[in-house]
Amino acid sequence: MHSETGLARLAASERRERKRLSDSEGSGVKRASMEKVDKVVVVGVEEVAGVGEPGVRSLSTAPEGYTGACPNYRQPAELGCFSLDSQRTFHDDGRLLRYFAPPRGGDDPRETPGVETNGGAGAATAGDCRTGDPAIGGRSRGWQGPIDLDVGWSVPGAYIQMDAQRAERLDHIVSWLSRHRSRFALPGQAASLPLPSLNTDFVTWRGHLTKVLGTPYERREGWQLAATLFRGTRYMSEVETEAARREREMRSLRQKQMCYWGYKFEQYMTADRPGGEPDVSRPVNTNEGFCTVVRTRLAGHSLVFAGEVDCRAGERPPPSSYVELKTSREVVTPGQRFTLHRFKLMKWWAQSFLIGVPRIVVGFRDDSGHVQHLQTYETLKIPKMVGSEEKMWNAAVSLNFCEAFLSFLKEVVTRDDPKVVYLFSWEPGADVTYRVYENSEQTFLPDWYIEQFRDLPKPGMMEQSTAPDSPIV
Ligand code: A3P
Ligand code: MG
Repeated sequence: MHSETGLARLAASERRERKRLSDSEGSGVKRASMEKVDKVVVVGVEEVAGVGEPGVRSLSTAPEGYTGACPNYRQPAELGCFSLDSQRTFHDDGRLLRYFAPPRGGDDPRETPGVETNGGAGAATAGDCRTGDPAIGGRSRGWQGPIDLDVGWSVPGAYIQMDAQRAERLDHIVSWLSRHRSRFALPGQAASLPLPSLNTDFVTWRGHLTKVLGTPYERREGWQLAATLFRGTRYMSEVETEAARREREMRSLRQKQMCYWGYKFEQYMTADRPGGEPDVSRPVNTNEGFCTVVRTRLAGHSLVFAGEVDCRAGERPPPSSYVELKTSREVVTPGQRFTLHRFKLMKWWAQSFLIGVPRIVVGFRDDSGHVQHLQTYETLKIPKMVGSEEKMWNAAVSLNFCEAFLSFLKEVVTRDDPKVVYLFSWEPGADVTYRVYENSEQTFLPDWYIEQFRDLPKPGMMEQSTAPDSPIV
């Protein structure tokens, strides 16, 4: 059975599907890939076939189906933060927050060689990440020439990598949620009592949503997202695909070295206190991280998610004062420029936009890992900057697709039971499909978290309707 709103959504979803079919015919996309296929496969102890009977069994990802006005995305508000230390231990505080400490003068776009200097990214977006810039804050240090990211690469013990085998899933997020549940009280709801529900539609990592936003334009890497409905909230956790596991295990030394450079850049650009000096003699330890937890809303979906933040600059309230740091190969040829704008800027925009980070400071490096100049991109200006170029991407398409995907989840993920997991899968060129697992190893919400809700009243009908909009934050 569906509620009226559920039926209305289904009808809307059917309309979208029909529109996509007709659009795709017009655009030459193969109809076969747009057809609805019943892809529900039931795995597990108990038969769950037919549960929820969603009607729509797969979701197209073709960008043509998601053009149109941009859906409303609310400015993310920070609910709190947590830190993960050098051992990957959770701390319910901001102790691992870093502070922006760039060298002075490294970001002059006139120093940029090649196409970047003439109408490239530099001309459109060059910002000043020098410490004297009141918009971004920071501290003053002379630009001593190229930054050598390779320092320490071949020194034993100078690169401590997080154990990639360890599946953390949503453990850190629910650790934070369990300590701050009272913050999710609705107006009039007693915040002092253990709340039976988070009054939120979705809980996930920001990185998972970044992948969803990129899906209409992604040509190489598929994904798997596990979703489970628990007390009215759909929790989403990524599952590594076989292809991603293989790629991780086969990563070349050169690729590992470039990853190291990315982390080393973070060290060069940050200090442990405002006005402090970077300490690049410390090992790079990828276990460490500072995460913000934000609440926001995409059209009809309320979202709470966490994401790692590289550093803070200035006094503005977070997330407006947060800065994302990136490294990228210096742009010399038009082909490199296309790659930067078409692929990297898409991902960087999605990652920072979702969580409300307004600035991305990029260290453009050469092939030996020397950063030759810095450049600041304003997140909100990126879509317009690439919008006039050929064969680019459209932020509205990404957000419309994300909205449709979340609606799809609401239609499909209807059994309010943490032991039931819906595994959504996507491969480039195909539709999003799913399988349902019950009492299987796909279960990802920790027992201790589920236990905290025991004996509390079940939220009435929450699983069939959109959770209320405006908890007190
Ligand atoms: P770059 O961003 O300079 O490439 P993030 O920018 O998301 O904070 O990540 C910091 C660094 O982690 C990246 O630096 C990169 O070196 C590494 N990194 C991030 N995502 C990765 C991935 N999916 N695979 C391998 N390395 C990754
Ligand atoms: Mg970064």
